[in-house]
Amino acid sequence: MKKFTRTLTCVLALCTITTLAVANEDAELIINEELNISTKSAAPAGSALDELVSGWRFRIKETQALQMDDFDNPSFIFIEQGEELFAKVDGSEGKACASCHEDVASFKGLRTALPRHNASSGKLDTMETLVNNCRTERMGAEPWKWSKGKMTAMTSLISLQSRGMPMNVKVDGNVAGAYKMGEELYYTRVGQLEMSCANCHEDNYGNMIRADHLSQGQINGFPTYRLKNAKMNSIHGRFKGCMKNIRATPYKEGSEEFRALELYVASRGNGLSVESPSVRN
Ligand code: HEC
Ligand code: HEC
Repeated sequence: MKKFTRTLTCVLALCTITTLAVANEDAELIINEELNISTKSAAPAGSALDELVSGWRFRIKETQALQMDDFDNPSFIFIEQGEELFAKVDGSEGKACASCHEDVASFKGLRTALPRHNASSGKLDTMETLVNNCRTERMGAEPWKWSKGKMTAMTSLISLQSRGMPMNVKVDGNVAGAYKMGEELYYTRVGQLEMSCANCHEDNYGNMIRADHLSQGQINGFPTYRLKNAKMNSIHGRFKGCMKNIRATPYKEGSEEFRALELYVASRGNGLSVESPSVRN
């Protein structure tokens, strides 16, 4: 009975999708008064979207402001933790990341191209699998959990090196199958509410859903600091949350499904600047 009531309220809440504008959708994102971030760009050929818009544009002014200055952006506490972890020896081989990767700046550009094909596993590599691969294969260390603090601190630090560069994932060749799988997942209605990602992020972006201003659900800003939980959030963690909200059983973080979905969603944002680490509600 309890379940039924909850679902019902949820359905009613969805009926209240309106076009009330509360965000500053015309604002421009310039970080530290010098780094121009493209939060809007032309949709690539064949895109289901008229234009690409970053989630930053859908947030209220106060939230937008937190991302305009690194001193105000709470993510940088976690970036510092990432820097410490990068220099810290861990595992049976007595190595730190920095033993082999002299400067984290050498990862510049990596974020724009992920996920990508891994020739030896045949699967998609994400930032998390690349990091854990070095930990388990090269350091003799335990893998980090997908969405826990150490991993998100490290993926935030590495992603930051690409900030301002356009997202540019490959979708053909040996990832064509994964892309197709991701696309299918994006359009499949799931959960008790029988909704797909597209129902909200393609058909209704710009509209309000309860108190939330719906965006295109882009991932150019991940990992993202959320005011709601005061920590860095992974891409798969966010996918999971959205699936739970529609009362669907989410796939596992790191699963083949979520990697494929990540590739597809990343490709929908090809052309938007990497914003990581972003700030959202
Ligand atoms: C023993 C040496 C070694 C250690 C220690 C090491 N790595 Fe690596 N890492 C490599 C090698 C070799 C590659 C593959 C070649 C390359 O891309 O540089 C690689 C690749 C990567 C990549 C993919 C880079 C790209 O552009 O494709 C990432 C990200 C990465 N490492 C992160 C880390 C992190 C984070 C740590 C610490 C947790 C770490 N590595 C520790 C040797 C190491
Ligand atoms: C019932 C509507 C709904 C559905 C269905 C839904 N989401 Fe969301 N999603 C939201 C809301 C609300 C937010 C927070 C506001 C925003 O950024 O749109 C959000 C946020 C996101 C974000 C963060 C965007 C950013 O800029 O930080 C991503 C990524 C995302 N969703 C992906 C997905 C994916 C992938 C699916 C399908 C598995 C999905 N969502 C299904 C409502 C939905």
